[in-house]
Amino acid sequence: MLDLLNEIADAAAANPDKGDVAAYIPELAGVDPDHFGISVALADGAVFTAGDADVPFSVQSVSKVFALALALGRVGDQLWYRVGREPSGLAFDSILLLEREDGIPRNPFINAGALVTTDTYLAGSSPREALGELVRFIRAAADDDSIHINEKVAQSELATGHRNFSLAHYLASHGNLRSSVDKVLGTYCHQCAIEMTCKQLAMAGRFLVDADEMPPLVATERRRRINALMMTCGHYDGSGDFAFRVGLPGKSGVGGAILAISPGRASIAVWSPGLNRYGNSKLGTEAMETFARRTGWSVFG
Ligand code: DON
Repeated sequence: MLDLLNEIADAAAANPDKGDVAAYIPELAGVDPDHFGISVALADGAVFTAGDADVPFSVQSVSKVFALALALGRVGDQLWYRVGREPSGLAFDSILLLEREDGIPRNPFINAGALVTTDTYLAGSSPREALGELVRFIRAAADDDSIHINEKVAQSELATGHRNFSLAHYLASHGNLRSSVDKVLGTYCHQCAIEMTCKQLAMAGRFLVDADEMPPLVATERRRRINALMMTCGHYDGSGDFAFRVGLPGKSGVGGAILAISPGRASIAVWSPGLNRYGNSKLGTEAMETFARRTGWSVFG
């Protein structure tokens, strides 16, 4: 395993075409595109890493996986009255379908759907309490109490997040937000600004693996459903391409991270800040493709 990860990290370092770092969140625009890290946490508790696997990055939309687990823990299947379970076929921040579909976002991983998920786990608490619960969930999953939120990244996105404010106002106009737009956006931007290393993210992802070495944090049926949504919607309008090339449920973030799950086997985290045209890590996707091909780990047999 270690040889394979080192080989993948070396190939990434040698690849001149690293994609473009997300620039619409000013604090992310300055991240060095040459970073590359990868980490695999096996179901039995063994962890393997290569490259910059101990360098922290902004998890951004990968946080939506943990937020979904928390929201489902709060309201269970009631969530599905307010957000759908279908791929959108559009960019992560698109507003197009919201108008046609009466303010019900297609899925919990596009920004509109994630705002509803945040609003759901926020209900009845202060943003500080709700975020505290989310961070505690992630720390418990990763078995690491040092995981935290980067306040500068959160403020950077809050100051420039016009599209997310638009989406939230549109949701509110359809009665699909319980808390105020400002409260939801404040919580959402802090959620996206959670920082982790590849090693921490791979560890945290084990709650979706059915790992022997940790107490189950979510019920089996819920774990399967979150994995199904990651497979169908986790890479936005690049989800079909990721399923085709990698064959594992995965979730990307504009910070350049991807979390992929091999059910029953492992949680895999990769980070390379440059993005492809779908807003997903370019070299991260290529690394996952190589990893899945070489291990033969695919949910498609
Ligand atoms: O809301 C946003 O635009 C960012 N905080 C997260 C978007 C994201 O990570 C999309 N992923 N590829």
